[in-house]
Amino acid sequence: MKTILLTGANGQVGWELQRVLAPLGHVIALTREQLDLSQPDAIRQAVRTHQPDIIINPAAYTAVDKAESEPDLAMAVNGIAPGVFAEEAKKLDALLIHYSTDYVFDGSNASPYTENDAPNPQSIYGKTKLAGEVAIRAVNGKHLILRTSWVYGVHGGNFVKTVLRLAKERSELRIVADQFGAPTWARLLADSTAQILQLKDFDGSLSGVYHLTAGGRTNWHQYAEEIVRLARLYDETLANKALTIHPIATHEYPVPAKRPANSVLATDKVKQAFGLNLPPWQEDLAQCVRELYSTPAL
Ligand SMILES: NC(=O)c1ccc[n+]([C@@H]2O[C@H](COP(=O)([O-])OP(=O)(O)OC[C@H]3O[C@@H](n4cnc5c(N)ncnc54)[C@H](OP(=O)(O)O)[C@@H]3O)[C@@H](O)[C@H]2O)c1
Repeated sequence: MKTILLTGANGQVGWELQRVLAPLGHVIALTREQLDLSQPDAIRQAVRTHQPDIIINPAAYTAVDKAESEPDLAMAVNGIAPGVFAEEAKKLDALLIHYSTDYVFDGSNASPYTENDAPNPQSIYGKTKLAGEVAIRAVNGKHLILRTSWVYGVHGGNFVKTVLRLAKERSELRIVADQFGAPTWARLLADSTAQILQLKDFDGSLSGVYHLTAGGRTNWHQYAEEIVRLARLYDETLANKALTIHPIATHEYPVPAKRPANSVLATDKVKQAFGLNLPPWQEDLAQCVRELYSTPAL
């Protein structure tokens, strides 16, 4: 049986991964309390203790705006830790699966970004995540770097939950309409990761960067409209409430970190390499909102 070391077990993706990896091996799922990625020695110790066949690293410093004022910590977790995992994985001939972000791009492309497009991150978060990618590739062991975007899920904080909360509290929302991307369910990432592990007896020849997101594209304003439309199917108070969602421009909602205007990622490479089906973002969102209303305590 394979041993799988999983980080960030309390994160959106890590939580979904725990569930889906369980039948695939002996999963050692570590939270931040059990393994702090800002401590390289702790990472080395954990890998040497557990001797995994597969390391899966969804843990990250994901507070995009806060990273602007905590660049060292963001770099330690996002930029340095992935390289330490890669070095330790290589020593064991283990596979490292790591997640990265659409925010490595500057957003100036008119069309979806492919893996061949040059990154040019505009934020500390994007820069540190790119540093993590570079560190993993430099080690040149067996690895997959899965770049994704706009992650939401049942577990953890995210845009979907924020919109649902604000929709209940307010009668008007103002949401940015000039940034485009693909909302991606954490569960799609976890299921796709499991499918990759099952489909391929991974020999390292497919190592590299892959874009992995839901299909289609939207902007934050349209996304919010769809979240509220779906929520009204289950929430009678919201269904009967007058709510206006105003589209606004990025400059009308100033935040510390600069976001790309277009960060839609082309997913042809991952679909072709691993036979994945990546449904339109609306399909997964509908499932997730339904699930949120069937488990209101979460
Ligand atoms: N969220 C997005 O919109 C988005 C978009 C594109 C790419 N991604 C990438 O997708 C991956 C998964 O993201 P996600 O949405 O699942 O993130 P998330 O929900 O924020 O989870 C990140 C996890 O990392 C943990 N963590 C943070 N600092 C740590 C440290 N020093 N040591 C150990 N663990 C630490 C957090 O611990 P706590 O639970 O204790 O806070 C949390 O469990 C990440 O690589 C992220 O960069 C995310």
